[in-house]
Amino acid sequence: MTTTEASRSTYSTDLDLFSDEVLLDPFPHYRHLRDLAPVVYLSKYDLFGLFRYDQVRTALNDWETFSSAQGVALNPIANEAWKDSILCMDPPRHRTIRKVFDDALRPKFVRKVAGDLDVQAHEIVDELLAQGEFDGVTDFAHRLPVNVVMDLVGFPRDENRKKILGWAEGSFNFAGPLGDRQTASLPGAQAQLEYLINNASVDKLLPDSFGRVVYGAAEKGEITQEEAVTMMIGYANAGLDTTINAVAATLWLLAVNPDQWQAVRDDHKLVPSAFLEGIRMESPAQFFSRVTTRDVEIEGITIPEGSRVLHSYGSANRDERHYPDPDRFDAARNPVDTMAFDNGVHTCPGRTLASMEGHALFKALAEKVSSIELVEAPTWIPNSITRGPSTYRVRIS
Ligand code: HEM
Repeated sequence: MTTTEASRSTYSTDLDLFSDEVLLDPFPHYRHLRDLAPVVYLSKYDLFGLFRYDQVRTALNDWETFSSAQGVALNPIANEAWKDSILCMDPPRHRTIRKVFDDALRPKFVRKVAGDLDVQAHEIVDELLAQGEFDGVTDFAHRLPVNVVMDLVGFPRDENRKKILGWAEGSFNFAGPLGDRQTASLPGAQAQLEYLINNASVDKLLPDSFGRVVYGAAEKGEITQEEAVTMMIGYANAGLDTTINAVAATLWLLAVNPDQWQAVRDDHKLVPSAFLEGIRMESPAQFFSRVTTRDVEIEGITIPEGSRVLHSYGSANRDERHYPDPDRFDAARNPVDTMAFDNGVHTCPGRTLASMEGHALFKALAEKVSSIELVEAPTWIPNSITRGPSTYRVRIS
């Protein structure tokens, strides 16, 4: 113990961070946790937590100390089940698998497999304009990511595609702390695995898709068959709810900030900045975790070797120490340094794809839609890892 070490009572809290109540409106709690200390001990979960921007960023950039190799989920069952997932690897093993993901997420690959996203976005917006009023989540945010990600992975274009959405949401709960929400996710995780093994076989996958690439790598012996299946699950799960939540949250924020929508309409070059600002504010992935490989001291607080450390992207992105007036949606802020996509070796390889989808949709809206009006407020989903609404209604003209 260092002489400067603070007593645990000064940085400990019994807050139930994963209760429905907190997950539904986490931001006041994050502020409290950020103000409490640079490292917080969450006694209910025996977890150390990083909630300030600087500490989250530093930890994510130090994989040798904050390791993913013992899993990034918050329970041992998920960490065991995900042990072949790219998320749960450190270099050098991580680099081999990561290259396959990076190659299969380049814009050239995306365009070749999924077609022109701008054309698809315009079709969606035209349809919704004709409709006038619609659900911002199911009618708007779901459509492009489901088509694009399912095409990229190579899943057959059949009814099963719709099921994957529920499975992806469940897979993030599967990674949360043990409890009712985690238990309820188990049948979905099982169904997804069965679907992949039985239906997404190499002969059924779409030509040139990511699935074909990874099965090809498995046939050549570069990766194992289990790794190939895990990679397909990872690609589908990581690419769906995250992007859907980002699109749904940004549309809602534009609806409730009409002056910001007007700014985007006046200058379409603000579209990328506005989408990133939506992602910063509502961070589609709120948490993951690492395990310390040595004692780490942060401003007088020691995190012992072998501790699980939660890092909150959602809180880092609202840290007033880093972003002035962080609770304000500012379409021109352009927070390129957001923690929403992680930082360091695990930085999201899908950031470009998510941006291509978001930009296509909001550019099409900016070109055609003068007003976005909220008709019915969002209902948020209390998920252990992700954040997003399940429904809300808007009217566009
Ligand atoms: C707005 C949308 C997205 C957000 C906010 C997001 C967020 C994240 C975050 C925070 C991580 C890091 C997890 C960790 O370090 O433990 C991550 C990793 C990952 N994401 Fe994304 N993601 C998004 C979209 C996508 C898309 C569209 C895909 C692909 C289809 C994708 C695929 C992946 C993969 C494969 C990883 C694992 C990378 C690694 O461990 O090296 N993501 N994402």
